[in-house]
Amino acid sequence: MNNYTYKITAAGRINIIGEHIDYCGGKVFPAALSLCNTVYVRPNGTNRINLSWTTLPGNVSLDLDNFESYKNETHAKFQAGCAYLWNQAGHKVLGCDMLMDCTVPFGSGLSSSAAIEVSTIAALAAVAGERPDKKEIALTAQKAEREYAGVNCGIMDQYASANGKKNHALILDCKSVTHEYVPFELGDYRLVIINCNKPHNLVESKYNERRKETEKALEILQKHCEISCLADLAVEEFKRRKHLLNGKVADRAEHVVNECRRVTLAAEAMKRGDMLTLGRLLNESHKSLKELYEVTGKELDALAEAAQSHPSCIGSRMTGAGFGGCTISLVHKDGVEHFKKTVSEKYKNAVGYDCKIYDAEIADGITVTKL
Ligand code: GLA
Repeated sequence: MNNYTYKITAAGRINIIGEHIDYCGGKVFPAALSLCNTVYVRPNGTNRINLSWTTLPGNVSLDLDNFESYKNETHAKFQAGCAYLWNQAGHKVLGCDMLMDCTVPFGSGLSSSAAIEVSTIAALAAVAGERPDKKEIALTAQKAEREYAGVNCGIMDQYASANGKKNHALILDCKSVTHEYVPFELGDYRLVIINCNKPHNLVESKYNERRKETEKALEILQKHCEISCLADLAVEEFKRRKHLLNGKVADRAEHVVNECRRVTLAAEAMKRGDMLTLGRLLNESHKSLKELYEVTGKELDALAEAAQSHPSCIGSRMTGAGFGGCTISLVHKDGVEHFKKTVSEKYKNAVGYDCKIYDAEIADGITVTKL
């Protein structure tokens, strides 16, 4: 790209396991993808940020003195929210031109919005000559998602988008907001990412509703035991306390507590190369998200079931918020092509339209290149 000063990228992500527990203080196990948002940026000496996209028509010009008025802009709200909050946090925000090129499919559950937010902040920092901490970028991006996009999200997506590392997954402790890298090694298995292509709707409101239910569970349990978040509760202790909770609230909490345990087991399994255990945990996670957390829906269930029934597949689950989006599957390398073909056919027979398979590597989070 001619005439731009920097090329900045931030990644989309998969979550290997640990779903809907980041906002309950749990540990999650995401990895950054080579599908990413790229921002080409140059200072323009004005008090405006001029946005354009390679994949969307039109331009939007943001007034640096008026960032709060863009909340209803379908696409520009992410950049506006990030610039506003980055500035509020005491950072310099300069007028600049930004060209966005996003290869994370929108609405795929692979965190296109986090990739856009994180790369926008990294670009603003580069133009201002700052080299900020990636954790601060992630926390500001999360705030933008909450305050501008209206999703009361956890920290997982923005953190993975910023801190991901090529060929590594992260064990992210969402209570302390710290991480550890684990080599992403699957032995003879490959990870296949498939989008169920369900049209997205109401994801935000259902997501926020789940979050409220976990808060309700915490509030009740805190009257009886000393915990600061649901993730503090061990599986055995939860079993003793479950009778204190009712219906759906009990189910949601049960998912959270068990999923936290699965993350620990899954990370240990990956470290020792025990793919069969990892696969089994993926299947258990999907079942729990379907039956207890109720965030899968018939499309993701059809896709996961088609995958799980293939002889080369040792585990499959939805990844991300759910209600649509993608599954990830662990598939023996010799069976990958057959798997893709069979699952695609089975899925189409079950729901009446095609799924989409992505080719992606595990990649770095933020990258900054001076042009
Ligand atoms: C979305 C949110 C994350 C996390 C997942 C579910 O991706 O942005 O914070 O809660 O859903 O695990």
